[in-house]
Amino acid sequence: MIKVFSFVGSCAEKNSSTLKYSDSLAEVFTKKAAEIGEEVIYKKAVGSQLDIKFCKSCASCFMKGVCPLDSLDDMAQLKKDFLDSDIIFFGTPVYIWEMSGITKCVIDRIAYWSHTFELTGKIGVVYAVTDTSKAIEVSKNLTDLLRHMGLIVVKSAYAFNCAKPNLHLEAEIQPEYEEISSLLLEAVKNPTKFITPLQEASFISSKNSYLRSQKVYETLELPLDEYDVNISLARGIGDYASFKDFKIDVMKRGFRNDI
Ligand SMILES: Cc1cc2nc3c(=O)[nH]c(=O)nc-3n(C[C@H](O)[C@H](O)[C@H](O)COP(=O)(O)O)c2cc1C
Repeated sequence: MIKVFSFVGSCAEKNSSTLKYSDSLAEVFTKKAAEIGEEVIYKKAVGSQLDIKFCKSCASCFMKGVCPLDSLDDMAQLKKDFLDSDIIFFGTPVYIWEMSGITKCVIDRIAYWSHTFELTGKIGVVYAVTDTSKAIEVSKNLTDLLRHMGLIVVKSAYAFNCAKPNLHLEAEIQPEYEEISSLLLEAVKNPTKFITPLQEASFISSKNSYLRSQKVYETLELPLDEYDVNISLARGIGDYASFKDFKIDVMKRGFRNDI
């Protein structure tokens, strides 16, 4: 069984083209997975149904691993859904050359995951939907952010309402869904194939910086009380030579301190 969780970063309700992309991709993926005997459970969180508050820059997530806003809105459930999934669809419309406001809000609220590689073990596709402009750039930017959180992204995808591939023209968009579905199924078997140099670099740079912090605090005989550093060290980040090794281990056993 493959659990797909889809975040749809649009508040456009039932006519949302981002939602259409998610549902159509899920349909094709479900069929392709069935061909190899895999059942797919598709769950989605749609912007129009979510209450997500703005990050208040208190840095509690980085320092303590807790966001005081999580008890006031839908973010706790959203995080749980991301972490419970095997595959993530992460989609945004393009609003004035950028990801949508609600998508950015969600990204801000999980910013600390870029320090803890929280999405290690997950596979995903990122996509942007637009009328004519900036889909490629927005999808690429969002992809890099999520890769920085540990997600294995098989494709930075996009679709247009007024250009190619046109979301509403079956002949143009169907091959996209087919390709993404095949890549996702390939990544389930061989996820490390999709690790990028950027992911390796961000892992090594974080690892070195956490080990350095640990040494400095030890030398000063001060307690190191930063959540992002402590959780990463507790998960044994210092013992892995590469993100690839970390990824393989997390996929086999879960995070070390969660066992
Ligand atoms: C506030 C706003 C800003 C937009 N900015 C752009 C833009 O910069 N470039 C573009 O090609 N389309 C732009 N669009 C069009 C949307 O990207 C496009 O219609 C998209 O499919 C909307 O997806 P949704 O229906 O899921 O929200 C904008 C739409 C809105 C509402």
